[in-house]
Amino acid sequence: MTDNKDNLVLTTRFGLEKSYTADVYQKTGGYKSIDKLFSMKPDDVIEEVKKSGLRGRGGAGFAAGLKWSFIPKNVDKPKYLCVNADESEPGTFKDRYLLEDDPHQLIEGIIICCYAIGAESAYVYIRGEFDLAYRRIEEAVQEAYQKGYLGKNLFGKNYKLDVTVHRGAGAYICGEETALLSSLEGNKGQPRIKPPFPAVVGLFGCPTIINNVETISALPYILNNGADAYKKFGTEKSPGTKLFSVSGHVNKPGVYELPLGYPMKDLINKVCGGMKDGKALKAVIPGGTSMPILTAKDCETVTLDYESMTAHQTMLGSGGVIVMNEDVDMVWVLRNLSRFYAHESCGQCTPCREGTGWIDKMLVRILREGGEEKDIALLNELSDNMMGKTICVLADSLSMPVISFIKKFPDDFRRHLKNRPQAVRVGI
Ligand SMILES: Cc1cc2nc3c(=O)[nH]c(=O)nc-3n(C[C@H](O)[C@H](O)[C@H](O)COP(=O)(O)O)c2cc1C
Ligand code: SF4
Repeated sequence: MTDNKDNLVLTTRFGLEKSYTADVYQKTGGYKSIDKLFSMKPDDVIEEVKKSGLRGRGGAGFAAGLKWSFIPKNVDKPKYLCVNADESEPGTFKDRYLLEDDPHQLIEGIIICCYAIGAESAYVYIRGEFDLAYRRIEEAVQEAYQKGYLGKNLFGKNYKLDVTVHRGAGAYICGEETALLSSLEGNKGQPRIKPPFPAVVGLFGCPTIINNVETISALPYILNNGADAYKKFGTEKSPGTKLFSVSGHVNKPGVYELPLGYPMKDLINKVCGGMKDGKALKAVIPGGTSMPILTAKDCETVTLDYESMTAHQTMLGSGGVIVMNEDVDMVWVLRNLSRFYAHESCGQCTPCREGTGWIDKMLVRILREGGEEKDIALLNELSDNMMGKTICVLADSLSMPVISFIKKFPDDFRRHLKNRPQAVRVGI
């Protein structure tokens, strides 16, 4: 976290005693946006969010206001908001802190979004392994009901909103928005073919918005201070601040709120106190493990925003930054990822079900026995055949790292070839 609270949107209450209670939330400006909200027309709220340039913080970076505007008008069906708190992408642990330290900020954001899209029910789908985060959001919801901030005539207004917290059961795939909906409906947590998109046919067949915890938590600031104030943070094309969860070989790993456009090298060297034990930087996964990797050289120029990441052939994703030093074997890292994605594939699509497992087995063989030159070409070919050919992007989440790891760290793969005198063998 930066020391200057004026530079913060999402984490102003982090570190305050009992920051998770309604009392502390209100004493520090919480629920202030409600009067303004109800003085506005729902469409004007959507316009303000559009104007703010807020993009979804769950991974894909889709414009929040634009997504809300896809909710059909004059449809005689209930509308829903589902807050995605499944947070299972390896390297990503920011939503947990928003849920633990400032759950009322999320509830205020839920009220704003639901009013804008005309929803009277919202669900918070929370990762099953989260314990404290679950208790904090559940207690905050109950507190909000007791105080009349949720339920019928909330805050004395002519409006009703119910919020239900639903715990997942440990499947990474349930973070994918349509798998989340299936799971919430009581079905097997498997992604659905899109279109139709959830904004049109979502939960129980009704129009539904799915947004990440961080996306919804930014709304009270935007409504209180206006879109222009929000746009003062960040860059022209990537406005606002974002949470980055930094792990790996840095001196001060943690969750940091930074304006978009902040240099990666400063995140590592200034904010995170530099590389641990004075080792050299080798690689960084910038946005959760599904994203293509960056080299140390890339990190000299890349900035933490959507455009710069694209220019460096990767993505900002969920902001899960994994920092690796010179001692790390990239084939071993890739195998760690392949094991995860092969285990978490829901199995509906052949290229994903078979491809993730095949890549995993190949990497284990290469690490244990040494590989052959043709294995590298086969890994690339397999990944290419998986990409863009499945119901959801879990298959791409492994293909993209495979292709980028081989492209950016070819020597690490060659070290494991059988014909090398010093071929490395790893006991896994
Ligand atoms: C395999 C997979 C897992 C995902 N897991 C999450 C997750 O844990 N949390 C999340 O917010 N989005 C996750 N997403 C992205 C969601 O499908 C969806 O895009 C997001 O919740 C939309 O919210 P946003 O627009 O606010 O980012 C995942 C996507 C995929 C393909
Ligand atoms: S890509 Fe993989 S996880 Fe996604 S639907 Fe297909 S099999 Fe399931």
